[in-house]
Amino acid sequence: MHKKPKLLVTRLLPGPGMDALRKHFDLDVNEKDGPISREDLKARIRDRDGLVCLLSDSIDAAIIARAMHLRIIANYAVGYNNIDIVEATKRKIPVTNTPEVLTETTADLTLGLLISVARRIVEADRFLREGRFKGWAPELLLGTDVHGKVLGIIGMGRIGKAVARRARGFDMQVVYNDAERLPADFEKKQGVQYRSLQGLLTESDYVSIHVPLDEQTKGLISVKEFRIMKKTSYLINVARGPIVDESALVSALKNEDIAGCALDVYEREPKVSPGLLSLPNVVLVPHIGSASVEARTEMAWMVAKNVMTVLIDNRRPPNIVNPEIYK
Ligand code: GLV
Ligand code: GLV
Repeated sequence: MHKKPKLLVTRLLPGPGMDALRKHFDLDVNEKDGPISREDLKARIRDRDGLVCLLSDSIDAAIIARAMHLRIIANYAVGYNNIDIVEATKRKIPVTNTPEVLTETTADLTLGLLISVARRIVEADRFLREGRFKGWAPELLLGTDVHGKVLGIIGMGRIGKAVARRARGFDMQVVYNDAERLPADFEKKQGVQYRSLQGLLTESDYVSIHVPLDEQTKGLISVKEFRIMKKTSYLINVARGPIVDESALVSALKNEDIAGCALDVYEREPKVSPGLLSLPNVVLVPHIGSASVEARTEMAWMVAKNVMTVLIDNRRPPNIVNPEIYK
């Protein structure tokens, strides 16, 4: 009889994607409401043909070495810095991610965070709940305008572009930096202007990060960068924590080198620098960029399709990040 391929899923995923996985695979799923432990992962991956993992699971060489039969690593995220791609590629294991279905969702949150920190929405909510609202006042909780300001986008990929589109709706001027400059006609059509990183940091009222985390972008925004940013500027990070040197950020906020920040991601998740927690001009959310029912459901479905394409159809998966293994 035909045997179902063996799949390990490190955490329950929402929606019909999970049902498809249950139907087609001999499934081992971590049902516990928490991350799979490293010990558990090491033991349970041994006999598996496929792995579905989260951005918070570290799939390094030691883990990959355990899995003698592994034929796919499907990440439930667009970012894949948690996986040792070099090692997977060496072993000819395709790695997949979940692009596109979370682009607009993450861009929505980016604008939400930007406006929240600029207009002090979270702080104002706290103020009201504490019973401190005693009536309208000319100088109560004054923030900073969003419209008419310069937004600097670092990383003009799918999410960066979706943020730029929204920003234009708010009458912001958009400048960007990226390893690759966009074609001139695209820049013109989108109404965005290229800047060096230094130029962008000097000029922007809001700086928003949309690059992936890799060796080039780790610590990209640190002491020197905060010094050249405007004192009135805000930093928004929905990409990956380690792109920003978090202790340099705390110092920059305390020294008033910048006016505030809004963060979805942290250098050592789930830890957050204590220095950030006590500052009022900081908005902090727990890595929820793609956290809408629609996006997370689509992501699960995408994971299921990638896994089925490899383990059942023996074909190249649609969302492969290391296509060189098929050359
Ligand atoms: C979320 O951070 C993702 O990479 O999907
Ligand atoms: C991620 O999907 C990006 O390209 O920004």
